[in-house]
Amino acid sequence: MSTMIASSQTDADDAIVQTFESTTTAADSYSSESSAVAVPRAAVIGNGDIYSFTDWNRELASGELDTCMLARGALIKPWLPQEIKEQRHWDISATERMDILKNFVKYGLEYWGSDDSGVSRCRRFLLEWQSFLHRYIPVGLLERVPHQMNERPPRFCGRNDLETLLASQDSNDWVKITEMAGLPAPSSDYKFTPKHRANAYASLKTDTWNTSAKKQVQSVVSGGQLQKEGPPPMKKQKLG
Ligand SMILES: Cc1cc2nc3c(=O)[nH]c(=O)nc-3n(C[C@H](O)[C@H](O)[C@H](O)COP(=O)(O)O)c2cc1C
Repeated sequence: MSTMIASSQTDADDAIVQTFESTTTAADSYSSESSAVAVPRAAVIGNGDIYSFTDWNRELASGELDTCMLARGALIKPWLPQEIKEQRHWDISATERMDILKNFVKYGLEYWGSDDSGVSRCRRFLLEWQSFLHRYIPVGLLERVPHQMNERPPRFCGRNDLETLLASQDSNDWVKITEMAGLPAPSSDYKFTPKHRANAYASLKTDTWNTSAKKQVQSVVSGGQLQKEGPPPMKKQKLG
């Protein structure tokens, strides 16, 4: 957690207030009309690592901050402000999370337009967002709550196919999710690379993913029930 406006800034603000007050007092002696105006103190805003309401409470408890800003926490858990307001860890369902994406597409197309350019812009922003969203680990799967933003869990299977799919680190699955959220499929050679790779998940090879989780994702992506077990499809290899 860093503080956007350091205490020295507060001191500086106090000095400005004092200077202002002494100036107005001097000016007042030349004028019968008093014009003392209170200069509001600058707000001190905490920044960084807020991922749950307990993080929020801990930072605010210091008494030094007026408020905190949310960055990655709100990108990974867009319902974080509600958790803070209601002071609870929300075990949000995969369907509810999918509804958030559907809403994004609805409003995105309204805003950017539903022509080719609007659709591709909406897809692009949704995919960038998914590079954060997929990091969410459902509260109901955690051994201990709360989860810290920078903890890297092992790959996991969700409680249903959709929950597993939403945790996929494979950007091809993210493209499939944009289609499930209501966007048309892009051209078959479309590839997405996230702009913000700081989450470091991208460095993991999808091959290392738990086979069972991968299988479930393939099932959701193909729009059906869990398929029968079988070897993954062979990739065509160039010979020679
Ligand atoms: C997607 C993204 C974009 C950001 N862009 C900027 C930026 O343009 N300028 C900046 O000063 N900080 C930027 N930040 C940093 C955040 O403002 C914030 O300081 C940082 O993420 C720490 O807060 P967090 O732990 O809640 O993420 C960005 C962060 C993220 C996640």
